[in-house]
This record gives sequence, structure tokens and C-alpha cells, in this order.
Amino acid sequence: KEAKLWGGRFEESTTDAVEKFTESISFDKALYKHDIMGSRAHASMLARQGLITDDDRDKILKGLDEIGGRIERGEFAWRTDREDVHMNIEAALTDLVGEPAKKLHTARSRNDQVCTDFRLWCRDAIDAIVLRIKHLQVALVNLALKNEGLIVPGYTHLQRAQPVLLAHLLLAYVEQLERDAGRLLDCRVRMNFCPLGACALAGTGLPIDRFMTSEALGFSAPMRNRDTTDNDSLLVALDTEPLIFMNRVVLFYLLTHNALSDRDFVLEFLSANSITAIHLSRLGEEWVLWASEEFGFLIPSDSVSTGSSIMPQKKNPDPMELVRGKSARVIGDLVSLLVLCKGLPHAYNRDLQEDKEPVFDSVKTIMGMLEVSAEFAENVTFNQERIRNALPAGHLDATTLADYLVKKEIPFRTSHDIVGRAVALCVSRNCLLQDLSLDELRSISVTFDKDVYEFLGVENAIKNFSSYGSTGSECVSNQLDYWVTKLDIS
Ligand code: ARG
Repeated sequence: KEAKLWGGRFEESTTDAVEKFTESISFDKALYKHDIMGSRAHASMLARQGLITDDDRDKILKGLDEIGGRIERGEFAWRTDREDVHMNIEAALTDLVGEPAKKLHTARSRNDQVCTDFRLWCRDAIDAIVLRIKHLQVALVNLALKNEGLIVPGYTHLQRAQPVLLAHLLLAYVEQLERDAGRLLDCRVRMNFCPLGACALAGTGLPIDRFMTSEALGFSAPMRNRDTTDNDSLLVALDTEPLIFMNRVVLFYLLTHNALSDRDFVLEFLSANSITAIHLSRLGEEWVLWASEEFGFLIPSDSVSTGSSIMPQKKNPDPMELVRGKSARVIGDLVSLLVLCKGLPHAYNRDLQEDKEPVFDSVKTIMGMLEVSAEFAENVTFNQERIRNALPAGHLDATTLADYLVKKEIPFRTSHDIVGRAVALCVSRNCLLQDLSLDELRSISVTFDKDVYEFLGVENAIKNFSSYGSTGSECVSNQLDYWVTKLDIS
């Protein structure tokens, strides 16, 4: 067996079961690109600080390039006995370039290395997710444009409420997605600090330049623990937080401890993903419902539907059902991480190796959900006839009628009651509000006049909406213009 990179003090080799149980290479090889980026920055910094020679650095950089190429071409043999991505790459570098490679781990620990890699990976993942969010927004806005004048029943409690323009409803999802992207970008800002140089937990006595590596890797700054001259900066290599010890508040300020201990960047990231997943799940639920025979508002094309192995007539909206279903995974991934972190003492604990898979899973799942939702949106049509036939039911214009009376200076509570009585009359007669004659209406309230018919029916109701953000045609058309420009839709 090959000696471990950490094997100096060990007299026995690890058992196969332990090796298999503790390895992370089977999944953390996904970090290889970022591990190499981190090592390149670190080697360049070591050379500039005189900790290794320029010649060593050049050999290390060249070796890392070679290894990166091999990995990309699928020619790199990942070894379980080399435990994780960091030691696989470092050991392979030593095989390749010899002595200089042994200097690469100067003033570095896998503890700061892994969180640096992981932050870089998550940063890229956020950028990729935000782009997919935008694609879905574009698909929804296009769908809204395609159906610009279409009125649909609006629901609360899943009961008929008021008429809305379909575009108004679709833009509500676009707005939600915008907040989702915003949450991810906020998280990215807080995430974008560099743990490298925190080493195992305490920093180092070697003359490293953490600002140089941080900048080379595109971070905003190195993570702090606590700058003793600045009371606001209670952050750095371990986490600084007041601990209650024997009833006394003790302030810990071990520099650099924070950098290794912190996993709130992933907790925040997966929280943001979970909220996005819930939004997509709700969209999925709505569209599954709308595609049912009972609603029949939405017709997914064959290309985004699947069939039944036994019932020949079936055409199911499976992609959106799975969007709804997969939101459970994304939430589960967050919960796994929350539970993982909840009992950990400060700085690095091996438990933290378990942070990778939930994050990888969450990212892969949310990307798929976004992609398939966009494809679904690009491949559905609305059954205009069915929707039009469905519109009269449910007295969607009742609130507009109440507002009509308000315009005639009836207090709203009174007008609500009057219209309620008109609705009751319709229910007993099985007719629509607009079917009531003026005499019938006036028998309930003399305030009704013949102009009332300009307020009845869903088209009139829609025309009547005018408040900012409302479902009125002009307002929705302004909102559409806003999104067309913002999302650069031509
Ligand atoms: N594979 C480890 C992880 O993912 C890397 C850090 C290991 N550090 C250690 N001291 N064993 O967390």
C-alpha cells in the first residue's frame, strides 16, 4: 500500500472498511477544477513571498495544467486510497513533478483548501442557476406575450375570485423568480470571501499573503476572524462568537477560525434553492391542475407529456409533476445540511465532508427543475375556448360591481352587502349578475343605474382595474414592457 500523505506518525495502515467509509473522492472529484485553481493561486503566492522558488512554482503550475488536462480527457485515475480530491491531485502532482510538488502544501491545510474549493464551486453554481432562472423568466414572458389579451378566472381558496389577465398571473411567477435570483446573488456576495490561508484553524507563522490569493481567485477579500482594531469585524478564521461559559460571556477571537468553521454559505445557498424549488413546485401544481380534464385550461404538447403503460388514452403532464416532486429533494438537501451542522464544535470536523453531496444534489436538481419548467412553458397552449366558456361561472365580476356602488358614494361595507344579495338572487335563479334586469337590481338598491352594465361581465371587470400592479390591460401591458426590456427579449 502507498504511504498516506499524512502517514508519518502511523505504524499501521487503515483497514479497507475505514478507507472505503472515509473516502470522499467518489463525489468530491467534482471540485477538481476549483482545487487546481486554488493550488495555482497558492503556488504563485508562495513564490512571490519567497517561500518557494520561481522554478518550483513553474514546475507546479505546469504539472497542475497537465493534471487538469488529464482529468478533462478522462485519463486521470482517481484513487480511493488517496482519499479525496485534494490528496489525489497533490499526490499525482508529486508523481509527475517530484520534489517541488511537496512544497505546495506549505501554509495550507485541507481544511482551508476544501472550503476555498467549495466556495469557488458554489459561486459558479449560483451563476449557472441564475442564468437558468432568467431562461425560465423569458419563457414565461413569451408565453404571456403570446396570450396577451386572454382573461382567465383568478382563484383564492381555489374558488372563483376575480378575473385576471393570464399575463398578470404569469408575470407573478416572473417576479417570484426575480426575488429567487436576488436571494442567490445576495448569498453570493456574502459567500465571496476567501478562507485560504486560515490553514488548519489558526492561520500560520509563515509570511503568506492572503490578499494576493484572495484577489487571484476573484474573492472580495480574505475571510477575517477578528480584527482587534475594528470592533465591527467579528469574523475571520474560526468563527468568532460570544460563548456562554460558566455563566459568563467569553469572546473568542481566534483569527482565521471562522473560515473553516463556516458553512452558512451553503446553508444560505440551499435555503435560496429551497425557496426557488417551492416556487417551481407551486407553478407545477397549478399547471398540473390546469391540464386536468376538470380545468382543461392548459394543453401541454406531446413533447412535454408522457403516457401510461396500461391506459392507452392517457397523456400526463409528468415533467411538472416531477418539478413538484423534486422540490422535496431540494428541501431535504437543506435539512440534511442544517442537521449536519447543528451539533458541531467550532473549526473543522470531519462531519463537514458530508456537506458536498447535498449541495451537489440540490444544484443538479434545481437546474433540472428550472430547465424543464422553461421547456414546458415553451410547449404549452391555452385552450381559449374552454377558458372563455368557463369565465361566466362564479360571479367573478361581483367585486367590480361593489366598486361601482362605491363610485356612487355607497360605503363599501354596504355595497358588499347589496352585491351579496344580488349574487344570492343569481344563485337562486341560476343566472349571471349581468342577466339581472335593472328593475331587479334596483329592487335591491336604487343606486343601480343603467351604466351598471358597463361594469358587469369579465371583460368590463378587467377594463375597470387601474391600480398600480393590477390586472388592468394597460397596467399589465406596462409590466410586460418592463420585463421585455429587462430580460432583453426581442
Ligand atoms: N475531504 C475532506 C472534506 O471534504 C477534506 C478536509 C479533510 N481534512 C482533514 N483534516 N481530514 O471535508
